Amino acid sequence: MSLSPDIAEDMIRLEALLRGHVAPHLKTKADARILDLACGRCDEAETLIKVVGQEAKADKVKLIGADIRIREILQARERTEKLGAEFLLEDATKLTQHKQLGDEFDMVFLRHQNYWNGPEVWKKIFDTGLAKLNDDGLMVITSYFDKEHQLALEALQKLGAKVVLSKRNEVSRGLDSPGKSVDRWLAVLKKPV
Ligand SMILES: C[S@@+](CC[C@H](N)C(=O)[O-])C[C@H]1O[C@@H](n2cnc3c(N)ncnc32)[C@H](O)[C@@H]1O
Repeated sequence: MSLSPDIAEDMIRLEALLRGHVAPHLKTKADARILDLACGRCDEAETLIKVVGQEAKADKVKLIGADIRIREILQARERTEKLGAEFLLEDATKLTQHKQLGDEFDMVFLRHQNYWNGPEVWKKIFDTGLAKLNDDGLMVITSYFDKEHQLALEALQKLGAKVVLSKRNEVSRGLDSPGKSVDRWLAVLKKPV
């Protein structure tokens, strides 16, 4: 299944954002693991695999996504059949109990984190994500809104994460509500040491 023209353009912009601001912080690896939490239908799967593979000079990149919505997980599986990605129908607050998933991820990605929708749940999702990173790993989030981004960063810092950068995406596509746009903000964080 291919992406709609709008979304395909969002992916071009996201790729540029990741190459410019995330790639310089990636460690070179023979293989790399990405965990995409609350991934929805994971429009960004191919973009993430491409950027991490090229910039970390990794021969093999494995992406695992998780979301609680079955319809989105089925769409993600269908559209990424050829990428070797894996999509789990899982509550991201409970992934510490998921033995096969393991940890040691090089990147934990949360696109359009939804902190406003339930701060307590999202704090747990953030905490789980940080615990899944290896020592050099990066947590990368994007946000639709200014205020929600700020609140998410504050919550992550309270969990001990260190903000490497937080950047407004000046070319993000505007959406239905005022102040909402696609990948409006990007932040890169490291886990507590
Ligand atoms: C704003 S949407 C973003 C979806 C996707 N990352 C994107 O950018 O299109 C938030 C997502 O969080 C997921 N979600 C909310 N609570 C969750 C939980 N406890 N575990 C896993 N996913 C969750 C929702 O199902 C939804 O897909």
